[in-house]
Amino acid sequence: MTRAARIVAAGSALPERVVPNEWFSQFVDTSDEWIRSRTGIAERRFAAEGETASTLAAAAVERALASAGLEPESVDLTLVATVTGDRPFPSTAAYVQRRVGLRGGAFDLAAGCAGFVYALSVGSALVSGGQAETVVIAGAEVLSRLMDLTDRGTCVLFGDGAGAVVLQPSDEPGVIDSLLENDATQTELLRLPAGGSAMPTTSETIAAGENFIKMPDGKEVFRRAVIGMADVCGRLLDKAGVPPEEVTLVVPHQANARIIKAVADRLKFPPERVFVDVEKVGNTSAASIPVALDHAWRGGRLSPGDLVLTTAFGAGLAYGANLIRWTAESPGA
Ligand code: ACO
Repeated sequence: MTRAARIVAAGSALPERVVPNEWFSQFVDTSDEWIRSRTGIAERRFAAEGETASTLAAAAVERALASAGLEPESVDLTLVATVTGDRPFPSTAAYVQRRVGLRGGAFDLAAGCAGFVYALSVGSALVSGGQAETVVIAGAEVLSRLMDLTDRGTCVLFGDGAGAVVLQPSDEPGVIDSLLENDATQTELLRLPAGGSAMPTTSETIAAGENFIKMPDGKEVFRRAVIGMADVCGRLLDKAGVPPEEVTLVVPHQANARIIKAVADRLKFPPERVFVDVEKVGNTSAASIPVALDHAWRGGRLSPGDLVLTTAFGAGLAYGANLIRWTAESPGA
């Protein structure tokens, strides 16, 4: 029998502080009406002082392990998808491992908002290949610390949070297949200029605002996101031989309700088969899909046997999709 990987549980953690759209009006010329109608976002969560990618990821992982009935010592690999890790090094996964008491290997993966889709593909391959038995995969972001509150085109979009899933071996595939892409001709469409080896942080970079998220052409990101996500979803379903009508629930990256609707329309998925929680969380980048999976699962929208399609798009421009047979039993708590 072929060894495969399946999701046994999910978990998520959002900061307590709720930031409504009106809050941004004190910094930039914007309105609740504009933000809601252009993005579908009503509010998002911002991390408190002391809360970081690793504290949020650890809380999400603990919740997922508790729901799976697993002890932290049974985990032999920790993978964190993030672009806002606690520090450039050590990895955020190392901090999560220490906080939760996990064992084995630990590393981070950066693929922008598509980070979780990439990480699920990598984690399931390691389980299927026999290199790991119990893997936790978290997506965690604290984007509020990188946003320019004088740039209305970006600051209203993002939120903080973390989500996680636990993977274990299975006979039947849970994570059926994944498709990963990156359009490297468009690296400058979405970036954080300073803080890396290309532009180390100095007082000049800080004064020039180079330590904040830059998105010079949001419309172009929007356009490419719709085309990219629809493309990988269509190709992945074709490759797996699964007709779109067999997909129970699409759980897309929660960037913008209009992007989600445009992707769903292209693929002819009706709204009732597309999960959306962007109204309450905003764009949490790599955390968005695992948070949405957890919300869908705990909200009774996902049951064992369901076919789930995830898809995400972000900086890189990295994008991708996972096709999943949902196998986690009802969370109970
Ligand atoms: N409040 C009020 N007005 C605003 C705001 C705001 N927060 N932001 C932009 N505007 C203004 C612009 O200045 C512009 O004004 P002008 O016509 O006087 O020049 C007008 O609104 C229209 O701006 P557009 O950028 O054309 O507005 P659009 O409808 O494209 O919406 C948005 C902008 C929401 C950023 C959209 O392009 C988008 O969602 N793009 C995808 C970006 C994204 O999600 N990035 C996150 C990372 S990648 C990912 O997750 C997929």
